[in-house]
Amino acid sequence: MALKNMEDLVALCKRRGFIFQSADIYGGLKGVYDWGPIGVELKNNVKREWWSAMVYNRDDVEGLDAAILTNKLVLRYSGHEDTFSDPLVDCKKCKMRMREDKLKEKGVCDYCGSTDLTEPRPFNLMFKTTVGPIVDDESYAYLRPETAQGIFTNFKNVMDTTSRKIPFGIAQIGKAFRNEITPRNFIFRVRELEQMELEFFVKPGEDEQWHKYWIDTRKKFWISMGLSEENLHFEVHKKEDLSHYSKATTDICYRYPHGIDEMEGIANRTDFDLGSHTKNQSELGITAKVKNNQHSISEFSYTDVATGQKFVPFVIEPSAGVERSCLALICEAYTEETLDNGETRIVLKFKKNIAPIKAAVIPLAKNNDQLVSKATEIKNELQSLGIGRIAFENTGNIGKAYRKHDEIGTPLCITVDFETLEQNPQTVTVRNRDTMEQIRVPVSEIASYIQDFYKK
Ligand code: GAP
Repeated sequence: MALKNMEDLVALCKRRGFIFQSADIYGGLKGVYDWGPIGVELKNNVKREWWSAMVYNRDDVEGLDAAILTNKLVLRYSGHEDTFSDPLVDCKKCKMRMREDKLKEKGVCDYCGSTDLTEPRPFNLMFKTTVGPIVDDESYAYLRPETAQGIFTNFKNVMDTTSRKIPFGIAQIGKAFRNEITPRNFIFRVRELEQMELEFFVKPGEDEQWHKYWIDTRKKFWISMGLSEENLHFEVHKKEDLSHYSKATTDICYRYPHGIDEMEGIANRTDFDLGSHTKNQSELGITAKVKNNQHSISEFSYTDVATGQKFVPFVIEPSAGVERSCLALICEAYTEETLDNGETRIVLKFKKNIAPIKAAVIPLAKNNDQLVSKATEIKNELQSLGIGRIAFENTGNIGKAYRKHDEIGTPLCITVDFETLEQNPQTVTVRNRDTMEQIRVPVSEIASYIQDFYKK
């Protein structure tokens, strides 16, 4: 049986150390979460797989890690100061604030059902902060609302240092911040998020075919990560719903417990960003200097060496949220099974490449020095293989250990028992998460057994 509701998932994530409400000892901070010992492994694995697919396994993408604190002019000329907003309404009766376009029923307060709402007004989602010791009207900067702008402003730096020819892309994974009016649905809509973004620069006129290519490539990626095709939906934005920079956007949506919703957006950003960072300097007659520290100094055009043609590249942007990706992967993996003895087993059937813990080594009894020492030796050997985190589970309760590792999706549990010590050659029990089958493997072969398992 698959996941029925978000509450079961939230409880599991807290119980097993995936995700905690941030600052919960002080009542939390709405829309902000901390990732626990298991969650951070899952998140790192997802980001690593994305980076491999988008950078290492291709020959046309470079990586970048740009700053979070962003000069206000970048976000002025990108259009975010004027347009990165959601429509805010207040309920005059219960005083709650809501996003007008996300109300459950049009014109009706989500909280008290009143229809006495204010007119919607734009609420800018960017977080402002001050930079330096002087706080005045000009000393502010923003926490970036998307990682993309750091890529655009470094376009020339990357071009100049890598001698790339178009088409090519720049990939980045990093935090972004949005002061969402109503964060909700657990980690689906948060105020501090992480994005995995690629800006892929192409020749104008070739943008539509590249847009199709990236929609198809990203679909294949998510299927390879374990999301089933029937839970993925593709939503083409209507003209009136497009972001200020986009000519066409297709969302890859997932069937979450709260409904089908966006996990990744793939936009055709045209030459909007590179063009407006360029235009703002040329219109003002500034070519290579910053005037009063007010305007961009780089011209983001590209000259095709073969034809001599000069143009501002178009950009195709696949942009996925790490939180929404992990949420989809946990939902997909969540399985409840009824065992022969009538008990229910909850198991997260992650694909092994993203499983947070690769194997757990469990001594059968916690107070037996020989068992603990053998198990420690095996744990250390497996840890040195470089396949990811190996857990050492010294609680002395094998049933509990299996239940825990099923619930966090550990593909293999290795138990060191008294037979291990007595037999010659020594063997351990290896239990498979999905089949619950147990086999005995010689200790001398356990490293190659695990390596083979993770190679397949
Ligand atoms: N650079 C393009 C961009 O930022 P977006 O559609 O606003 O486009 C891209 O965001 C992705 O970032 C979304 O598909 C989603 O996965 C994630 N995302 C955006 N806002 C989010 C939020 N408040 N909480 C969690 N994830 C969010």
